[in-house]
Parts: sequence; structure tokens; C-alpha cells
Amino acid sequence: MENLDEIVSQLKEWYSRTPKHFEGAILGSMTTWPHPIGVYAYQLFIHVNGNDPVVFPIVQELEKELLATVGSLYGSRYGLFTSGGTESNILALFVAKRVSRGKSDVVVAPSTVHASIDKACLLMGSRLVKIPVNPLSPVDPDILEKYVRDYNPFAVVVTAGTTESGVVDRVKEASEVALKHDVYLHVDAAFGGLLIPFLHKHGIIDSDLSFYPGVSSISVDLHKNGRAPIPSSLLFFRDETYVGKACFEMNYLPSGMNCGLLGTRPGASLVASWAVVKAIGLEGYEKQALLQQDTALYLFKELDSREFVEVFKPVLPIVVWKSKLYDYVEMVKKLFEEGIFLYKSPSLQAARAVIMPHVTKAHVDALLKALDKIHARSGFD
Ligand SMILES: Cc1ncc(COP(=O)(O)O)c(C=O)c1O
Repeated sequence: MENLDEIVSQLKEWYSRTPKHFEGAILGSMTTWPHPIGVYAYQLFIHVNGNDPVVFPIVQELEKELLATVGSLYGSRYGLFTSGGTESNILALFVAKRVSRGKSDVVVAPSTVHASIDKACLLMGSRLVKIPVNPLSPVDPDILEKYVRDYNPFAVVVTAGTTESGVVDRVKEASEVALKHDVYLHVDAAFGGLLIPFLHKHGIIDSDLSFYPGVSSISVDLHKNGRAPIPSSLLFFRDETYVGKACFEMNYLPSGMNCGLLGTRPGASLVASWAVVKAIGLEGYEKQALLQQDTALYLFKELDSREFVEVFKPVLPIVVWKSKLYDYVEMVKKLFEEGIFLYKSPSLQAARAVIMPHVTKAHVDALLKALDKIHARSGFD
């Protein structure tokens, strides 16, 4: 028998060495420190298998409530709880393929699409045709239509908040193309889903996110701007019949079926998501979105005032910049050495900071200080 005290002290030691979001070093990842009520709920429901709604009916009840609350932002309450943006995207394309008739085995998407769409197409043996786009601009609807006409795809994917630059594709215009050509349109709003409706409402961004008539599905991650513990995401469909297409027969289970890609799944994260959404509320997410955008603009303005930086104006709270001195990979590495963890934006050959809910102006100041330090060392100040 292992000595539990020893294990606990080992765990505590490792814990003390992991960076924590609230300390301000994690500025590249789209993850955040979960809301405490979510952590509490997660622990309490740690034993619950989300794949068994007969033994654990709470799973289905809370999923329904969660879908209704968050879905009210987009105009649908049909869908399912998943483990993240990747599962949601794979599932959306799987459903698209299942419901489409007379289409070629092709998915069309702008080149800014998340890598999980490549993964989905690889898994399904489908071809992903990427429309080359400027990573700082949404896809042009006329060009999107040309690709749809040329390739007759079974699905089109656009992104509402791209991973590398936070650009929002125009969902309304893409919906018109999808409707005209009778093609399944999936909107990947993993990052932007809990930002865009609020920023649009306040006139900060033009595009909105909604089930326009041609939109078939929308994915929204709760473990990103929702502040739910990992793994938590929602995949919404425009009607209930699509939900059934994301389910599989599994006779040995009391329900006789399984929905989503995972089998046994953490019911705890579903209950935790419900608790977090209930605690923060849509008004809370609205305030948070405005605060994130404000902090992103603060970082943008500060970077813009520095001679050694070329920075791109953020659409959503993702700030992307290049150094005039360092190659972007080197800059990110140097900042890692200073204890600041950024990610890269390879399509722009730039570094990327994501202003997640935990990021404060003080964290931004620490980033700027580290950036000034690595440039001063090399003659810029
Ligand atoms: C636009 C977009 N879609 C999907 C994903 C994948 O989400 P996850 O890491 O939760 O699977 C990400 C992750 O950053 C993303 O930015």
C-alpha cells in the first residue's frame, strides 16, 4: 500500500510548479481558471457517467437547461454537450455527411479554419478544400459561393472567432450561400460564441452569431470564455432531428444508445458547466466580454506605441503582433524564458496573446515589461 501522505506531498509539489492562470503568465492559451462553483460541482459529481442518462437522469435534465440558456443567444435549444471544440467540430461534420444527399465528399472552409476541421476530414476520409484568405479578414461571401458551386461540398465551415487572429467570418452572408445551394453550414464559434452576441449588441463588431436560415450547427466552448472546467462544450443544431444523427446504437446501455464521440464521459463537467452558467448568467458573460475587449484594446494601444512592434487591431480579444527585431518563434521563446506563455500565429508569422476572462491589465503590464526587457537588451528602448 502506497503512503498517501507521500503522494499528497508529491502532488502538492507538482501543483506548486504548474503555472496558474490567475498569476498572469498564461497569455496564449484559450483556457482559463474555472469558476469556483464549477470546481465544487465537478468534485461533487465526479462519479457521474454522462453517457448514462438512465442511471443519472440529472445529466439529461441539466443538458437540456444548459442548451436552453446558452442557446437563447443564437436561437436554438437543440444539441448536445461535448468535450470541447474538437469533438463538436468532428461531430458537426459527421452529422453533415450523414444528412447530405447528392453532394461530393468535400468540405469547403476558409484557410483560417481550426485544425480540428482537418482532423475531422482525415478521420472521415473526406477532402477539405481550403479557400486561401488573408488571416486578418473574413472570407468573401462571393468567393465562398464560387467554391460551393465548383466543389458541391456536403458541408461548409466558417469560423466566428478564428484561432490565430480572432476574425469573425460573416455568418449571415455564409448562411445565404448555404441556403441558396442547399448545403450544410457549420459555424465554429468555439472561441467567439460567448463574446460575439454581446460585442455585437454594443456595436463593437458588425457581425452577429445566430441561427440564420442557412445555418445548420454552431459550436460554442464553455471551457474557454464560459469559465467551466475542462472538458466542456456545446454543439447546437438548428432542429431536433440532427441531434439524433449524432447518436449511435449501444444496446448494453440502459438507454440503448450513446450520443457524441465519447463513450463513458465526465458527467461532472456537464453539471459543473450548468452551475457556472447559472452563477455567471448571460448578463455576467456580457460584462465579462466587454472587459476582455477593453483589456485587449489596452494591450493593442500599448503595443502600437512601441517602435519595435507591428500590431494588428483586434476584432475579438486576441492581440497579434510581430517584433521588428525577433523572428516570431524566437520572440515567443524569449518571452517563455521570461515566464510569459504566449502562443504563435503562424499564418501571420506573429505572436498571439488571448485576453481570456482571467487576464487583467496588471498581467498585460507584466507582458509589456518582459517585451520591453528583451528588446532593450538588443538596443531597442
Ligand atoms: C476556433 C476553434 N475551434 C475549435 C477549437 C478546438 O477546441 P478544443 O481545444 O476545445 O478541442 C479551438 C481551440 O482553440 C478553436 O480556437
